[in-house]
Amino acid sequence: MNETFIALLGICSWDVLLCQGYIKARMKSEEKRRTRFHSGHVPFSGIKTYVDPDTYEDPTQAVEEFAKEIDPSYICIERVIGAGEFGEVCSGRLRKPGRMGIAVAIKTLKGGYMDQQRRDFLREASIMGQFNNPNIIRLEGVVTKSRPVMIVVEYMENGALDSFLRTRDGQFTVLQLVGMLRGIAVGMTYLSDMGYVHRDLAARNILVDENLVCKVSDFGMSRVLEDDSEAAYTATGGKIPIRWTAPEAIAYGKFSSASDVWSYGIVMWEVMSYGERPYWEMSNQDVILSIEEGYRLPAPMGCPVTLHQLMLHSWQKESNQRPRFNDVLSFLDKLIINPSGLLTLVNDVQR
Ligand code: ADE
Repeated sequence: MNETFIALLGICSWDVLLCQGYIKARMKSEEKRRTRFHSGHVPFSGIKTYVDPDTYEDPTQAVEEFAKEIDPSYICIERVIGAGEFGEVCSGRLRKPGRMGIAVAIKTLKGGYMDQQRRDFLREASIMGQFNNPNIIRLEGVVTKSRPVMIVVEYMENGALDSFLRTRDGQFTVLQLVGMLRGIAVGMTYLSDMGYVHRDLAARNILVDENLVCKVSDFGMSRVLEDDSEAAYTATGGKIPIRWTAPEAIAYGKFSSASDVWSYGIVMWEVMSYGERPYWEMSNQDVILSIEEGYRLPAPMGCPVTLHQLMLHSWQKESNQRPRFNDVLSFLDKLIINPSGLLTLVNDVQR
């Protein structure tokens, strides 16, 4: 190993000797990874980038690399809390030896699945396992070596953001709502910095914990949107949640962090309207046509002008005219530090 590199790492050669077994093992897995045909993410640039599990010849290797295997005897399933495309979603506890038990959500893969279904199911774990951010749902690990196959994630007491807001209409201050939006912007800034495009950012895919912290979830479906009841087939055969999706992504599949910003603007509107359905009962086709004609969602009742302006900015037709997630985040931070920018509500201006 190169001396300068060792010096840069700030470790003495004795440590290197001790660590060599580990480093060799690590290099071996790194080499194995690079011999696969994914798009060469630079491990020494200092910026961690997302690795698409689909670029692994064998997707089970991606799961092994990014998700910890959990001994099923550590998991105690308590109740069913929902149904996913692949099977039930349960709540329960994870008790690792020597650690405090924690509340978890457990996604299970129902029996009788095909190999491809197992791969699609575990794809979410190999994506989530690459992320480490307070506003991204945390993967605890997977159970793959026994049945049922499971994905274990942190439990979020208040469930999905859309239904949470619908049951608490009008109960939060504007500053609390902006705090939720800030959390989502932190998570999305992290994802876009990692080079990950979500494609299905919507309030239904944000989870809320007991302290109102919002975390981005639902990663498995970023390519195949089978599990989202909002996703509709387009003329070109893609399945897309039309009301949340930027026009260039609907028209010619150009998904990017800029199209995620468009979706973020829709999430802002959902939050400020306490879970109202974007474009109400309009049909998907009418939504597409109206957007094309320049129509945009009006400000929800009681929404500060500044926030509606940010929404309109994120719904610019030209994707390069939209703010980036870090711009959104610093804008919200400024509003939180100096909330006088939240005092003028749209209704006041209209009056
Ligand atoms: N529903 C789906 N995932 C969940 C989670 N992590 N916590 C609570 N409810 C959920």
